[in-house]
Amino acid sequence: METKFWQVSAEQPDLEIIKQAAALIRQGGLVAFPTETVYGLGADGLNPEAVKKIFKAKGRPSDNPLILHIAESADVWRLARQVDARVQKLISRFWPGPLTLVLPKEKIIPAEVTAGLDTVAIRMPRHPVALALIKESGVPLAAPSANRSGYPSPTTGEHVSVDLGGRIEAILESGPTGVGLESTVLDLSTDLPLILRPGGVTREDLVSVLGTVSMDSGLSDPRQKPKSPGMKYTHYSPRAEVILVQGATEKVVPKIKELVSQSSSQGKKIGLLLTAETWAGLGAEADELPVFYRRNLGSVSHLEDIAHIIYSELRNCDTEGVEVIFTETYRPEGLGAALMNRLLKAAGHQVINV
Ligand code: TXA
Ligand code: MG
Repeated sequence: METKFWQVSAEQPDLEIIKQAAALIRQGGLVAFPTETVYGLGADGLNPEAVKKIFKAKGRPSDNPLILHIAESADVWRLARQVDARVQKLISRFWPGPLTLVLPKEKIIPAEVTAGLDTVAIRMPRHPVALALIKESGVPLAAPSANRSGYPSPTTGEHVSVDLGGRIEAILESGPTGVGLESTVLDLSTDLPLILRPGGVTREDLVSVLGTVSMDSGLSDPRQKPKSPGMKYTHYSPRAEVILVQGATEKVVPKIKELVSQSSSQGKKIGLLLTAETWAGLGAEADELPVFYRRNLGSVSHLEDIAHIIYSELRNCDTEGVEVIFTETYRPEGLGAALMNRLLKAAGHQVINV
């Protein structure tokens, strides 16, 4: 199939284009669209046949449930049971925004969306194009990230086109997304609020509203099975091998030099995705390093800038034919928790401590 590629302004989406995209959704088609986190691959979330196409287009395992995207927070009542005081507080504070809530589901939701679970994940995105598309479609949109399963999530329409071009009806493109990492998934189906996937809304943000919030221990321990079906798969990984180097800058700098020299003597094409601090530590020597692709991700004091470009940079390494990527770790606080979660998965938990 030929995939339509529509460019739309993020500030003022062209309603004519949105109407055409919504018509495709209502006919049971797949349309990729920008959100404030990453691009999503949308289908009519109440149409089982349309939802099945998502799994096929992405090559996604059918036991991994999808998030329903809504444009009016009041729609949560139609889709979920037990919309209690905690839920209402979170919604008024964080919606629209990068927070997905897992709640007991209502009967109208097809089993294809929830992979047979009795809970459903719901979020209201903050992107004007996403909101316009959902409103115009008149249905909740089931939408995973719009990448081939296992690959880093797309943060531009171009990424979606590379992964899913020819397999979906249309792509709405409005430039790079804001946050750059997926939403936080919070399970509120039991008494204890549990973060199933750290993301754009931080644990600290959630604690400020709820008091106690736990992090699923399966997220940090590769030997434990995570509670969210999607978190058990290899994920967010470029084709290149990813190796994380962890430690203080003065130790990371010589280690990077050593690793580069080793891999280079093995004839490998090397990518370096390093923080401003580490580049500064390498100083003038950085120019002499035999690396194929290099990028300054920015300062550790601006994790939001690093999150914004990290997927794009992992993808660039692949485009450039890089075989091994050396990159760094972050303190798992604030947005650092989400960043570390994705990097550990991309690296298959290969961490060199110095
Ligand atoms: O930022 C985002 O959340 C993006 C944009 C497009 O909204 N979407 C996204 O969707 O990342 P996806 O499908 O790539 O990730 C959804 C995650 C998966 O880990 C899935 O297993 C989990 O949410 N999930 C969905 N429904 C669930 C449920 N009922 N219980 C537990 N986990 C659930
Ligand atoms: Mg995904």
